[in-house]
Amino acid sequence: MLARRKFIRTTVLGSLGVLAARRAEGETHFGIKGRPMVVSTWDAGLEANKAAWEILGKGGRALDAVEKGVMVTEASQNCCVGLGANPDRDGFVTLDACIMDEFSNCGAVAFLERIKHPIAVARRVMEKTPHVMLVGSGAQQFALAEGFPLEAATLSPDAENAYREWLKKSEYKPPAINVENKQGHGPFAPAKLSNGEWNHDTIGMVAMDANGNFSGSCTTSGAGFKMRGRVGDSPIIGAGLFVDNEVGACTATGQGEDVIRVAGSHSVVELMRQGLSPEKAARKIIERIVRIKKEKARDIQVAFLAIDKKGRHGAFAIHPGFSYALRNGEQEVLVRAKSFFET
Ligand code: GLY
Repeated sequence: MLARRKFIRTTVLGSLGVLAARRAEGETHFGIKGRPMVVSTWDAGLEANKAAWEILGKGGRALDAVEKGVMVTEASQNCCVGLGANPDRDGFVTLDACIMDEFSNCGAVAFLERIKHPIAVARRVMEKTPHVMLVGSGAQQFALAEGFPLEAATLSPDAENAYREWLKKSEYKPPAINVENKQGHGPFAPAKLSNGEWNHDTIGMVAMDANGNFSGSCTTSGAGFKMRGRVGDSPIIGAGLFVDNEVGACTATGQGEDVIRVAGSHSVVELMRQGLSPEKAARKIIERIVRIKKEKARDIQVAFLAIDKKGRHGAFAIHPGFSYALRNGEQEVLVRAKSFFET
């Protein structure tokens, strides 16, 4: 739970963030080789990072780390990731995921049903097909041919309860989020699990390995009680995730439609290419979304989380309450991101 976890604010970034930023001044890209790091969205990122660090801490490849890391969340009871997540309006859990490596190889699946680890299927799409994305029954057919088991078409107890509640009104409201105070509602609001924990939206993870190479992964069940067939930003390369090994990597969480319309993660990476820090780049694209959405920006949450070649990490959200998990050789913490609306 949040209260039990160690928080740091980006403004008073604990030792490593500040040190890394200082160290980065005037250093070449090679200066941070040997200093792997991984960041991932929301509280669930802490556990996911542990699995990623098993690989990164031993000098392993970022691609392996980001796949194994988010598989932890996919397998956990989570409102918004994996087969335990909330279903669509028709009562089916449909999953979206993508992965990208240091060579700009990428793979994605969308509208995938009854497969436990969509991120692993996305990696197979990347490595074993000439394509980038497979969707729906075609993605499931490919997964089965690759030996992934077909899981039961049942809802988890938490999802079953949430769906029953939702059916009472069957409303699909845009999310009005106050994550920090746990008062959100709508498809991206935090959900309280039967074990008392709260969890959120997508997990996006970006990592740099000891060789200074980047990879990223992003996986979700998308908006709770979405229209059947709806696909968000998470499996869209350039929207939910983008990696450029010359620059860094970015992932997104929140209202996918509004991430897609600004090619969010790609836009953040392009601003980092021009020299902006991860936080400043994320802030610019959040500001762009707020400009586009005008008053409606009050009703949506979007956050970007990025790392760069200098070893810097940063994030920015529309609303307060977004935090990300950081793991490197010195720290394992949740970092609370700044936001456009302060309250
Ligand atoms: N960001 C998750 C989604 O929109 O599906």
